[in-house]
Amino acid sequence: MSKVFIKTYGCQMNVYDSDRMIETLAHHGYEPTTQLEDADMVILNTCHIREKAAEKVYSELGRLRLIKEGRRARGKHTTIAVAGCVAQAEGEEMVRRAPSIDVVVGPQAYHLIGTLAETAAREGKAAINTDFPIEDKFASLSKNPTLKSRAAPSAFLTIQEGCNKFCTFCVVPYTRGAEFSRSVETVEAEARRLVQSGAREITLLGQNVNAYHGEGPNGRSWSLGELLFQLARIDGLDRLRYTTSHPRDVDNSLIAAHRDLEKLMPYLHLPIQSGSNKMLAAMNRRHSAEEYLETIDRFRNVRPDLALSGDFIVGFPGETEEDFVATLDLVKTANYAQAYSFKYSARPGTPAAELNIQVDEESKNERLQRLQALLNAQQEEFNKSMVARKLPVLLDRPGRHVGQLAGRSPYQQSVHVETSPEHLGEIVEVVISSAGGKSLAGTLASIEYEDNLSEKAPANTNILPEGPSH
Ligand code: SAH
Ligand code: SF4
Ligand code: F3S
Repeated sequence: MSKVFIKTYGCQMNVYDSDRMIETLAHHGYEPTTQLEDADMVILNTCHIREKAAEKVYSELGRLRLIKEGRRARGKHTTIAVAGCVAQAEGEEMVRRAPSIDVVVGPQAYHLIGTLAETAAREGKAAINTDFPIEDKFASLSKNPTLKSRAAPSAFLTIQEGCNKFCTFCVVPYTRGAEFSRSVETVEAEARRLVQSGAREITLLGQNVNAYHGEGPNGRSWSLGELLFQLARIDGLDRLRYTTSHPRDVDNSLIAAHRDLEKLMPYLHLPIQSGSNKMLAAMNRRHSAEEYLETIDRFRNVRPDLALSGDFIVGFPGETEEDFVATLDLVKTANYAQAYSFKYSARPGTPAAELNIQVDEESKNERLQRLQALLNAQQEEFNKSMVARKLPVLLDRPGRHVGQLAGRSPYQQSVHVETSPEHLGEIVEVVISSAGGKSLAGTLASIEYEDNLSEKAPANTNILPEGPSH
């Protein structure tokens, strides 16, 4: 068999897509390898969200060219394929800049990657497909059920793609196209397959996951909340999560899901980007800071222990010190368990990149440091509030050293546990002994976590007796 090596950049949707590409390529005689030098095909699944992310791809392509030449000297061919959002945004331009590329394939056409590689080899020139036939992709992938004998204990499932929101800083509507939701039936079938092959937790993915409006069994379109109620009925599926959600698309069914579903983890990633209403308007977010805080309250009213996460951009064009202080104030009010923050990066083709009121690099750096200091302090405080508590942890990966496994708490914290490898894939109760800024550590309280509470039970009973301090 030929060998394929894949390197994934960017968001979890790219991680999901990379797995699907590997599955598709199995039909073309490829098996995955972790050894770059052995690979007959190398795929870079790329991200275009910030300039740095896109530039990394070109430096990697420089390295790959040398590997390709080295292999050619030994009589071996190497196909270099670029997939993902840089491929979509730059298309043919990529081949001009890096002529060693054989295949350029956008996020909606990667089910064709095997065929494109064959075309490139036959014709001796790069094969490019950056069309947007999204229905084709999911239809083709669902004919291609998971080939992997075992799914990871915690698996991703893309239910929605694309975005119609056009925030003025963001490339996603251009790289991933218009919103598209898969039907309830195909999502449920894929969830059942994942559970059968060993997944205990599923994270539903979408660039705008709560804009989900897939066709339901009754022909009506279903919301994310309704879909969560349906999936929670799958036996053997213990945990549900979803990401990334948008404040404007929160509806009552999602709040009800957090209220009623024991399996839905008490974690919410709800980016706001800025606490200044002036910046929110300039970003085209179409909601205010006050509305965001009200939305958070709706979640916390039904799930007081909810761990809140978010994304922030500092130095959006025109951002003043006063605007930035409004972001700090919002963070203090909302209180995050964890969050991501970025310096604004001007992206070609987006409206904000054209504004001639760009913020200087020094101010961006300084604001990012101040914001991160605050967010890190909140995260540490949240983590410390877990010490001495007992938390159910899904052990989903090896730990830092032998005799240790790592997993996730319901609040999405990394937890390192002293335990033997046979517990991988189990949900165990862990008594938290210490907490740092980024992770927790603890010891096993009992073996398997076997609390199969009925869906009707209120979400915040039994599982986590004492709520965190905020
Ligand atoms: N759909 C999600 C975000 C997807 S992109 C939402 O609307 O919240 C992930 C994050 O990258 C964004 O939340 C934003 O914080 C950041 N981001 C996007 N474009 C950016 C840019 N041009 N510069 C800096 N950060 C950016
Ligand atoms: Fe980008 Fe999210 Fe805005 Fe869509 S909603 S344009 S993905 S930041
Ligand atoms: Fe990046 Fe595309 Fe995801 S730009 S963040 S890989 S949708």
